Amino acid sequence: MRTALNFAVLLLALGLCESLQRGYVGEEPEPVAEPSKYGSLWPLPQKVQISDVSYKLSSSNFRIVDGKLSYADPSCSLLQDAYRRYFDYIFGLTRKHGPKSGRTGPSELTELQVWITSPDTECDGYPSLASDESYELSVQLPYAVLKAPKVWGVLHGLETFSQLVYEDEYGVKNVNSSEINDFPRFAHRGILLDSSRHFLPVQVILDNLETMAMNKFNVFHWHIVDDPSFPFMSKTFPQLSQKGAYHPYTHVYTPADVKKVIEFARVRGIRVIPEFDTPGHTQSWGKGQTDLLTPCYSGSKPSGTFGPVNPILNSTYDFMKQFFKEISTVFPDAYIHLGGDEVNFSCWKSNPDIQKFMTDHGFGQDFSKLESFYIQNLLDIVTTTNKGYMIWQEVFDNGVKLTPDTLIHVWKGNQQQYQKEMANVTSSGYQTLLSTPWYLNRISYGQDWQEFYKADPQEFNGTETQKKLVIGGEACLWGEYVDATNLSPRLWPRASAVAERLWSAMDVTDLGDAWNRLSPHRCRMVERGVPAEPLFVSYCPREYNGV
Ligand SMILES: *[C@@H]1O[C@H](CO)[C@@H](O)[C@H](O)[C@H]1NC(C)=O
Ligand SMILES: *[C@@H]1O[C@H](CO)[C@@H](O)[C@H](O)[C@H]1NC(C)=O
Ligand SMILES: *[C@@H]1O[C@H](CO)[C@@H](O)[C@H](O)[C@H]1NC(C)=O
Ligand SMILES: *[C@@H]1O[C@H](CO)[C@@H](O)[C@H](O)[C@H]1NC(C)=O
Ligand SMILES: *[C@@H]1O[C@H](CO)[C@@H](O)[C@H](O)[C@H]1NC(C)=O
Repeated sequence: MRTALNFAVLLLALGLCESLQRGYVGEEPEPVAEPSKYGSLWPLPQKVQISDVSYKLSSSNFRIVDGKLSYADPSCSLLQDAYRRYFDYIFGLTRKHGPKSGRTGPSELTELQVWITSPDTECDGYPSLASDESYELSVQLPYAVLKAPKVWGVLHGLETFSQLVYEDEYGVKNVNSSEINDFPRFAHRGILLDSSRHFLPVQVILDNLETMAMNKFNVFHWHIVDDPSFPFMSKTFPQLSQKGAYHPYTHVYTPADVKKVIEFARVRGIRVIPEFDTPGHTQSWGKGQTDLLTPCYSGSKPSGTFGPVNPILNSTYDFMKQFFKEISTVFPDAYIHLGGDEVNFSCWKSNPDIQKFMTDHGFGQDFSKLESFYIQNLLDIVTTTNKGYMIWQEVFDNGVKLTPDTLIHVWKGNQQQYQKEMANVTSSGYQTLLSTPWYLNRISYGQDWQEFYKADPQEFNGTETQKKLVIGGEACLWGEYVDATNLSPRLWPRASAVAERLWSAMDVTDLGDAWNRLSPHRCRMVERGVPAEPLFVSYCPREYNGV
């Protein structure tokens, strides 16, 4: 089970109780962060040089503008909005603006010029697995230059530039002369949020997307429905949310809500991949769609309870066809996550019609064959909508026939088991991404960010070809114990550790330097209004003030 308590960890924690009370476990970094030679950059860019020459910035003189040679259209609102957003972040949203002198000193930086270097800027497009996210940033007088082939690189470069700016002892903004050349190590860097176990108001989702952008995450995996509730409002099957949501008006995502989330994400370079998990995890679907779920039997009589999606009825597949046709138009991303995890066979076993179907199809008592039968039909349906699919690892483990571009999402087991699975999946030629070590809904005492930081999705026994099939990973925040009240502090800055693992070079592993950069990065998030929890004993120049 995804959220089962790990008793080994619990026992270990109890054993360490005494040292935990003192706040120290193993090798802790020093509480007070030392300056890193990389300042407070997070995640660390691929190539960084920061010199000791510093320039001043003032809100009255500084501008972020399109460079003269940029291919960007001046009406590209994605860029204009980003310039405004980062201007505000650099100078402090709510704090007073600097003196309106209009006069500039000899070492004042007054302009960041943004150049898009390719004719197709993708300003109006959606980010994808193949997006070019690279950028180059040069901070020199008379002006700083940010160059990127596409808008996606510009967004990351603006975040990096804003991270270079710091305040001196007089409260004046400074930036050091710097050269940065940057691109992500992995193309898929995701956060999973679960809006079924608890409903997450749209604003919470938007706020989280904003924080994701500060950490260069680029995929929002929206685990939108599950057993407990069905908040997604379908136009084709409105009953699903009318009957299946916690509340049909207040706890639903309307088509307008979903559009808003997708656009807010897009202009921050973030893809939205919805997950509609079947055939298990579907109790809430059954409330609005009769005959979709399998009736469970108690002896020779239906017990009145229902199990996974009923895989033996043609009506099931007619429903899925219509449903996923709608989904494929609502969500622009090339991928849909189809789940496929944790199918409980006991209800299928109890049902005489299913038993007969099993016999007729020669499946014997192997219910994973029935599951494969269902999933295969489903994949064929989704393929006709021209979408690619992601699936949880069980679908692969059960030997379901998959198209070569299927993404296998690894989430199970201990380190040795998931590394074996990554090796197995990639030796079969499939692309894969990792979540097992990054279940951030699990909490413990101490600096667990270090464990998240140490995990590496390419660490398994395999060839170079196999390693290249690893597209990245996702930090997951399952919703059993998470809603709007605790989502941000539980996720941030712990997810930031995952962000650096997925963005920065493989050899960026120094925990001490990570601490020295992550501490101020966390304070920066706090200053930007994110209730990101503390990493350890420390303070921020400007503490979170609750607004
Ligand atoms: C920036 O420059 C100042 C001196 O002006 C220096 O003390 C500081 O270490 C520099 N920062 C970085 C990250 O190199
Ligand atoms: C379901 O569809 C299959 C294939 O089209 C067909 O052979 C079968 O008779 C249908 N079953 C029912 C109960 O309609
Ligand atoms: C499967 O479902 C049955 C009946 O609802 C339940 O008793 C059993 O605990 C479930 N098994 C697992 C592994 O969750
Ligand atoms: C790899 O996966 C296949 C398909 O699930 C399975 O048959 C095989 O035993 C696995 N091999 C290893 C080494 O885990
Ligand atoms: C990788 O291979 C080594 C040497 O064969 C072995 O000791 C180790 O257990 C393997 N690791 C995994 C995760 O399978």
